[in-house]
Amino acid sequence: MQALRRKDILGLEEMSAEEITLVLDTARSMREIIQRKIKKVPTLRGRTVLNLFYEPSTRTKASFELAQKYMSADSVSVAGTSSSLVKGETLKDTVRNVEVMGVECVIMRHPVSGAAHYLARSIEASVINAGDGMHEHPTQGLLDMFTIWEKKGRIEGLKVVIVGDVRHSRVARSNIWGLKKMGARVVISGPPTLMPPDRAELGVDYCPVVEEAVEGADVIMALRLQKERQESGLFPSLREYAELYGLNARRLAGANEDLLIMHPGPVNRGIEISSELADGPHSVILEQVTSGVAVRMALLYLLLGGVKEE
Ligand code: CP
Repeated sequence: MQALRRKDILGLEEMSAEEITLVLDTARSMREIIQRKIKKVPTLRGRTVLNLFYEPSTRTKASFELAQKYMSADSVSVAGTSSSLVKGETLKDTVRNVEVMGVECVIMRHPVSGAAHYLARSIEASVINAGDGMHEHPTQGLLDMFTIWEKKGRIEGLKVVIVGDVRHSRVARSNIWGLKKMGARVVISGPPTLMPPDRAELGVDYCPVVEEAVEGADVIMALRLQKERQESGLFPSLREYAELYGLNARRLAGANEDLLIMHPGPVNRGIEISSELADGPHSVILEQVTSGVAVRMALLYLLLGGVKEE
């Protein structure tokens, strides 16, 4: 199998369609491993990974840790709140100290946009961005595309509608960059105050009325309302948001029969999506989580496993 010719995975803005395709192809092989009863291969034996999370995470952190275990890597996890950061140590010093212990790859989630790029410039180890502020969440974008590709057999030519707080969403940005490169048409919908200011540069269409946006849609992606990143006054109330923009069966009447409903999680049930849809037959929300393990195994393999010099 080929290796990615890059040190880091920082965003899908900078990855080519060929690189994305290589990750998705590799994830398909990895998914076969996680379907086995004994989920263990020696691929990353002797390779060392640091998981550094300065923000809460369930799916991303657990799936990276499982990916490392399934591939026999040695890994340590450090939470920002229990690290020496709270004693005033800088991010660069923290990671350089861990790097001299032999760490070859750092998985980092950080509240500041650009933190992963900064870290990648500061250390020799590979860096995988597990979400940086409002910028990108590339592994989520890749696992979403893998889920779509597995379910639909293609990405090119599909209409993907992203509904909700696009402005504050690193998941939306990574999906937009990736999906556009893979030939999908991306439409965003939601209140104008939650739309990104650089919409033209992102190359997406905007349709403020959800019922119109979803007409003929192949995939609808609901986004979590990023309450922690919002200034006040961007929409009147959660109740009003749910009434005007929340996804429910009535609102999706115009979408295609074989529609996929996605959400990166965590889900605010009854706000951005109804439980009926989140748990319904079109939902692939839990499949997205399974895809996350396969895609993260693929990335670790492509960054570390395929290039080891003995
Ligand atoms: N989708 C996602 O990033 O979820 P977590 O915050 O739980 O990692």
